[in-house]
Amino acid sequence: MCGIVGYIGDNKAENILIDGLAKLEYRGYDSAGIAVLRDSKLVIRKYKGRLSVLEEKLNKENLSSNVGIGHTRWATHGEPSDANSHPHANGNDTIAVVHNGIIENFMELREQLEEEGYKFKSETDTEVISHLIDYYYKGDILEAVRRAIKRLEGAYAIAVTSKDEPDKLIAVRKDSPLIIGIGNNENFIASDIPAILKYTRNVYILDDGEMAVIKKNEIELMNIEGDKIDKEVFNVTWDVESAEKGGYDHFMIKEIYEQPKALKETLSPRINDKKEINLDGINLTKEEIEKFSRVYIIACGTAYHAGLLGKSLIQKYVKIPVITDVASEFRYSDPFIDENTLMIVVSQSGETADTLAALRLAKENKARVMAVTNVVGSTISREADDVIYTWAGPEIAVASTKAYTTQMLSFGLIALDMAIKKGTLSKAEADKVIDELISASDKVKSILEDVKLTEEAAEEIYNKENVFFIGRGIDYDVAREGSLKLKEISYIHSEAIQAGELKHGTLALIEKGTPVIALATQDKLYDKMLSNMKEVKARGAHVIAVAKKGNKEVEKSADKVIYIPDVLDELASILSVIPLQLLSYYVAVKRGCDVDKPRNLAKSVTVE
Ligand code: F6R
Repeated sequence: MCGIVGYIGDNKAENILIDGLAKLEYRGYDSAGIAVLRDSKLVIRKYKGRLSVLEEKLNKENLSSNVGIGHTRWATHGEPSDANSHPHANGNDTIAVVHNGIIENFMELREQLEEEGYKFKSETDTEVISHLIDYYYKGDILEAVRRAIKRLEGAYAIAVTSKDEPDKLIAVRKDSPLIIGIGNNENFIASDIPAILKYTRNVYILDDGEMAVIKKNEIELMNIEGDKIDKEVFNVTWDVESAEKGGYDHFMIKEIYEQPKALKETLSPRINDKKEINLDGINLTKEEIEKFSRVYIIACGTAYHAGLLGKSLIQKYVKIPVITDVASEFRYSDPFIDENTLMIVVSQSGETADTLAALRLAKENKARVMAVTNVVGSTISREADDVIYTWAGPEIAVASTKAYTTQMLSFGLIALDMAIKKGTLSKAEADKVIDELISASDKVKSILEDVKLTEEAAEEIYNKENVFFIGRGIDYDVAREGSLKLKEISYIHSEAIQAGELKHGTLALIEKGTPVIALATQDKLYDKMLSNMKEVKARGAHVIAVAKKGNKEVEKSADKVIYIPDVLDELASILSVIPLQLLSYYVAVKRGCDVDKPRNLAKSVTVE
């Protein structure tokens, strides 16, 4: 969502802050700002708009500071505006604060502070923090921050700078990620690793209720009571290039093309030459698996779509009933959670607020919680009992691609591991699935090598107003992902429908020229799917199909067929989504959309 960067050292703080914010811009980007200390003054510059607006203004002045904090904002309280942008200061500009998260009791605090005579300049919840720190400030900024945060309810990652104590920055975390980067004669604060990776690979990952005093040559870690704590230094193993575009026009297309590698890296450490599965981080025994009476798979957006495949695979291989639900709905649906429940949460970022809340609810009710996530050290990875990491590398584009395919592959591994332990799949059956998982990387690569038909399909639909995606079984799940991808980056309205449901209503919307993307990869549903395609074709739809190589019959019911390699029905999604990702990308580019940063969206959604 929003992004935080802080710097203290000998180099130009404003340059490092802007550079770091640029790496975080994908998290939220309707405004940006910095506060730096110069000539015993706090200089705050903040503007509505992209980071470039701030950068242009800063280029016109020479701030020359060595300490400061910066922020990119994605509006929650108050519209995007200069006034609502962070940093927020106290009344006389001696203390500045940047904040990610939401302060739930901000109205109450604001009223109390207003009664004390504090004047507010913005509509944000964050501004109460700077005034509250001011209220408690008696010459010790650490103590003032400690007292202020005790009054806050909600989620926050906060960085604070003070004119009167220019040798230090203060950082605090509760329910919103924050890391401290350890440099040489300089130290950093950031809400996410890419912001500071250029400068250091060594970081402290703050846990909830922890804070840090960051000086040029010293980092002190403590809990909010002020008791000192020791933490291990986390060494980031991925490189800066993984977070750069590397010659591609957009992160999204780069990440689409990284999928063969990401799939291989997710799979290879977990399967040995004898085709045995070893899931590091998952410690389920046969007895524990047999005890589970139900599985919940909980996630949001694209991760939820991966969870739909998880449901099919676990039900098919492990023979346990599975419910996949979106995290924002799950908690309010009176779920049956007990010690016989396995909850699997799926989250690329590992920080999504609703998914995290579902995880916590499951733990409160004694369920076993497993996480599928891409970010090592993320909150979800640390709070779950078992973790399987997708080794997709950093995903920067807002639209998720390589995280999705590696999440689906991980579900293949999880379901197989459980089935083998429980004895619901024979070795021969399991080997067949393992072979399919191993070949997924090469098959995806072959799809990416010939994209001509998908580019043509994009040409055919890019100026349409509505697009329909249809499918049956897991093809419908992929249809939902294809539809989400298209709408989120190209702003074309699209809808995914179970092909068999068309005639119960939606068929009324099909007219001459309506684009229908038909997924027809499931052998057992193939004939039925062809009939559904004929139904829309008879109403004039322009049908673009995705089918397995060799299934020529489909050509009679479609205007264009994009073939994927032959694959086991239950794992076809890992391949069939690739043309859909590419289609949405090409359409968005043709429409001149900002592919990597679609309007109104953010990469990591840390508010509920
Ligand atoms: C869509 C997309 C989102 C995310 C969702 C969950 O392309 O990326 O729908 O999948 O916000 O995010 P994570 O996986 O970080 O929990």
